[in-house]
Parts: sequence; C-alpha cells; structure tokens
Amino acid sequence: MKVEHANPLMFVEELLADAKTRGVWRWPRLLESPQEPVARYDGREVINLCSNNYLGLANHPALKAAALEAVARFGVGSGAVRTIAGNMSIHQELETELAAFKHTEATLLYQSGFSANAGTVAAILEKGDVVVSDELNHASLIDGCRLSGADKKIYPHKDVGAARRMLAESRGARRVLLITDGVFSMDGDIAPLPDLVTAAEEYGAIMMVDDAHASGVVGKDGRGTVDHFGMHGRVHVQVGTLSKAFAGLGGYVAGSRALIEWLMHRARPLLFSTSHPPSVAASALAAVRLVQHEPDLIRRLWDNTRFFKDGLRRLGFDTGNSETPITPVIIGDEARAMQFSDRLFEEGVFAVGLAFPTVPRGKARVRTIVTAGHTAQHLERALAAFQRAGTTLGVISP
Ligand SMILES: Cc1ncc(COP(=O)(O)O)c(C=O)c1O
Repeated sequence: MKVEHANPLMFVEELLADAKTRGVWRWPRLLESPQEPVARYDGREVINLCSNNYLGLANHPALKAAALEAVARFGVGSGAVRTIAGNMSIHQELETELAAFKHTEATLLYQSGFSANAGTVAAILEKGDVVVSDELNHASLIDGCRLSGADKKIYPHKDVGAARRMLAESRGARRVLLITDGVFSMDGDIAPLPDLVTAAEEYGAIMMVDDAHASGVVGKDGRGTVDHFGMHGRVHVQVGTLSKAFAGLGGYVAGSRALIEWLMHRARPLLFSTSHPPSVAASALAAVRLVQHEPDLIRRLWDNTRFFKDGLRRLGFDTGNSETPITPVIIGDEARAMQFSDRLFEEGVFAVGLAFPTVPRGKARVRTIVTAGHTAQHLERALAAFQRAGTTLGVISP
C-alpha cells in the first residue's frame, strides 16, 4: 500500500506563489540569436540594453575563428580538473597574456568570475581572520567571505572613513582583507580605490579588487580600475572576468607568483571542478589581444555611454551615481520596475528589471548597458522608448 507523505518541498511552492503575487518573479527571456546590439528575444527583434558584451565581441569573427581552431587542435574538453590532468597549454598561454595585460607577475584562470572571487577569498582567509567589505560588493565576494569563515565587517557603500575605523578595530587579527568591487555591478559607480589602498597600506591589510566590470572598460586598453587610478603594484589581489567585455566565459586572479601558486594548490574551484574547454580559453585569448590592438572599441563604448546616460538624465530619469556604461534607471518599487521593463519590451527595447535579492529592497530598477556596437540610431530609438514608457507609467513627467 502506498503511504502518502507530506511534500517537504511545499514551502518552495508557497514562496514562489508569493513572488508571483508580488509581480517580481520572471522566467528569463529567451535569446534566439547571437548576442548583438539588436537581438531576438522571445521571438522579437529588440534593441538590447542588457548584456555585458561591452565591446561587442560575443559574435566577433576573430573570436569565433580562434574557438574553432582550438576545437580542431585540442578537441572540445579538457577532460579533468586543472590540478589532475586538465592543465592545457592554451590555459597557460592565456594566463601569460593576462599577466602582461594586468602588469602582474602571474594570473590564474578560474571557470568563472564568480568562482575566482569566492574561491580566492576562501583560499586566503580562515576563521579568526577579518574581512572588511563594501556593502554593495558582488555576491561572489560575499559568498567567498562566508565560505572562509572570517569575521565580516561591512562598511556603508564607498565610505572610506568607516572602512578605516573597521581596519583600526581589526588591528589584533592575524590577517585582514579589504575588499571592493572596482565598478559596482548594479549602480555603475567606481570604488574610491586610491583612498582604500592607502588605508589598507596603513593598517597592513591585504587589498583585493573585483574588476569584473572594469576589465576591458576602464583604464588603458581596459586594464581596469587599478590602471585607471595608477595603483599598479599596490593591489595584492585583482580579479577579472572573461565573461563580460571579453565576451566568453571565465574569471582570473592577477597578483604575485606566490599568490597564484598558492591558489593553484588551495582554491577549491581549481581543485574540484573541470577546467575550461580549449575553445573558451582560445576565444578569450583572441579577445584580450584584440582589445589591445583596437583601442577604437573602448572609445566607441564610452562615446555611446555618454550619449545614452546624458539622454536618460535629460529625460528626467534617476540614474543614481553611475560613472560607467552600467546605467541604472532607479524606480524603487519592485513591481513597477518590472512593469517598466515589460513596457519597454513592448516598445522594442530590452532593459531588464531587477529587484531584491539582486539589488537592495526598495531600490528596484531597470539596468541598462550600452555597448561599442550600438549605433546612434539604436540609442536614439531606445531613448524615445524610455520617454514613452516612462511617461505612460508616471516614472517621469511628460
Ligand atoms: C562585480 C561582479 N563580479 C563577479 C561577477 C561574476 O563574473 P562571472 O559572470 O564571470 O562569473 C559578476 C557577474 O555577474 C559581477 O558583476
């Protein structure tokens, strides 16, 4: 006889029903074309303001050719974790290129920016250590802090004075890590890196920067915030991603040779998860080289950024303190942000709505990112759509 048991996962259905009632649950839209400035989502050609494909390289012929060549030469998979049998020559070639790009002794490739952040923090801190962290740091840094077991001290966004007080309080700790995003992913503002670095130096803390949104975007040839602020040699741990401006997949840590050798020995994503397929490493390598040979890409990205950001501000939208191509349109109410995004989609523009837990409660927004590949016409059409949708929903006055 079959015994009926209560479903122990019932709470998931209840939580889901609640999110749906509040209008904040969405299944992601389906991309049915390459990732381009105008792309096909959910069966519709729309101006795409959602991707992190900053330099428009996701469908670039040189990157595609590099990936195909790597498949022909090395096959489709590495066959093992890096530390067992999956350490391929193409991985190391990419690491050498990235170290030269970042002006550091060495770099280490991870499967993603997420695993680079989480895996690195957890490999250099342990219980009894202290991490001093910006409240808006990326989830992967937060998870790394949790995994490490270190005591967490969270300072208000970009508040260097508060960070200093926390560093002072942590004087007795064995190791202290000061950690910040270089460019904040939901707000598009830049960390006060020079002041943080000075504070870290004064208190003997390790300085770490997550430059996921700065690499390929900020600094000479996109070397990131460390280059932008002239901080080479003063930031112990830099993280970058290959999944945004470099248009593929993967993360890396840049720093001293000793740091990299330690991480290869201890970082759990390296020890327990398979390394990149060779095609992924090859296209990233092509991207890093291309960016240094075609400075026009970054110039176009910034021209488009200025044009679009100015346009949104002129229309009366609240774009927060954004200083980079990430430009949020802050709405506040979660359901309203989602409605605004839906309305824009009807107008032919894809700009995703973001609510808690991606952004703090009460700070829901539509986030936009323009790319080097958008034309003036794309951006003008997008601004007209923002104006219509914003007026209709009362986000801006007519
Ligand atoms: C600030 C920041 N760090 C790290 C990551 C993770 O990078 P990846 O997508 O390569 O895992 C992201 C991406 O969402 C990010 O925005």
